[in-house]
Amino acid sequence: MISTDALIEKLDSGFVVESETDMSEDYKRLLIQTLTITADTELISIFSILDALQYVPTLNRRITELAIVQDELGHAHIAYRLLKLLGVDVDDLIYRRDASEFRNPYLMDLKLKNYAELLTLHALLDRAGYVLLGDIFHHTSYGPWKRALVKVDAEEGFHVRNGESGIRAMVQTDEGRRMVQDAVDWMFVMGLDFFGMADHLKKRSLQLDLHLKGETNDQMRQRWMKSTMQFLDSIEIHAPVHWDGEQQQYVYDFPYPCEWDETERRWRFDRPVEWTDVLARFKGHGPYRQEYVKMLRQGRETYLKLLHDEVV
Ligand SMILES: [Fe+2]
Ligand SMILES: [Fe+2]
Repeated sequence: MISTDALIEKLDSGFVVESETDMSEDYKRLLIQTLTITADTELISIFSILDALQYVPTLNRRITELAIVQDELGHAHIAYRLLKLLGVDVDDLIYRRDASEFRNPYLMDLKLKNYAELLTLHALLDRAGYVLLGDIFHHTSYGPWKRALVKVDAEEGFHVRNGESGIRAMVQTDEGRRMVQDAVDWMFVMGLDFFGMADHLKKRSLQLDLHLKGETNDQMRQRWMKSTMQFLDSIEIHAPVHWDGEQQQYVYDFPYPCEWDETERRWRFDRPVEWTDVLARFKGHGPYRQEYVKMLRQGRETYLKLLHDEVV
């Protein structure tokens, strides 16, 4: 197997990794880690959408949500399929792994309470996915994933636009505007969390050296804020950050990261925390993780039982 240093040298001059034989041990390990987080996030994301279908007001919009669910399953399938190519037991990941071991972000383990929250999920959090996967799409040195992300990139763009168009309609009434503002008040900071630990706390990034991604966490977080704030400013919805002309970047209006109150579903802007606390919250996962993983597996058990009954 090629050494990581030798591989970095090849990658720096434009080498594209096509199969396991091209990889160093570190490359394979980090690729499997990133693909697992991506696959789990895409898969678990469908449950809060399915649950929130009850709040979607029209048949047209409900069908759009189902199309999004189908897309997310397709995105999960791509990542799990690539994991399979790398020798990972995907059945074990999906059907036998302990629910606590799924690597999706905390937000996916919550339930949404109204249609404004579902639309905000698309406008803000699908946008976070768009930024993260867009970075991989443009910069990854792993050829099979880069090619598959053409489809994902286009579809995530559609999810964001669906959220934006729904929100633009909703803010036309006072009641709708209040609901959107309430949703953004808690979901915006969830979006910041998506990009992970601040750069100054991280050691040298092997993922960057190995061309598995192209931008740092803070660079992507800034890109997300820029795009999100452009949209929120256009509809006069507030978020707790502002543009700093001197630093040429968005800065937080509160001590970020801060404490999340799970019971009241709001941020305690008066209680700053460390990044290790954020990571611990992610590791502890959210309140509906068990229920969602159970739903995922229930279907499988019924299906296997049907197959078995047919055979017998
Ligand atoms: Fe997706
Ligand atoms: Fe999406």
